Amino acid sequence: MKMGASALSLLAVLEVGGASLMFMQPRSLDGEFGGEVNAGAVDSFPPGSVTHFPDGRFYLIRADSGGFLAVYQRCTHLGCTVNWEPNQNRFFCPCHASAFDIHGDVQNPPAPRALDTFAVTIENGEVIVNTADIQTRDQFAPEQLVHS
Ligand code: FES
Repeated sequence: MKMGASALSLLAVLEVGGASLMFMQPRSLDGEFGGEVNAGAVDSFPPGSVTHFPDGRFYLIRADSGGFLAVYQRCTHLGCTVNWEPNQNRFFCPCHASAFDIHGDVQNPPAPRALDTFAVTIENGEVIVNTADIQTRDQFAPEQLVHS
């Protein structure tokens, strides 16, 4: 009887320990916010386009020049999600009416600076956005565009 209780206790300890180890393993965030997102083939984004990736929490911009820029969807005022308004050619924040141009530059305050960005790389003709690293900036500069 005593042996049985000890064996059960040991089993319980092993179960709890195993469950703890599972939680301690790093979870891959690839494909979603916090990890690397493969946005798709370079050629699937026409110049002058803006594409929303809700799971990655960014907009992928392909400028008229063909360069790419990934901007965080989070407003730089108090953090609401901005919407892309194609008819106005701007990002608009519904919380306090900040507006940003296609490169994420402030058009209308109270937002204090341009939308944050994520690193973009082109690998084998695919656009990869690293959402693990949020890059702040005061304003847009052409060097921020990534060309294939
Ligand atoms: S949170 Fe966007 S304008 Fe205030």
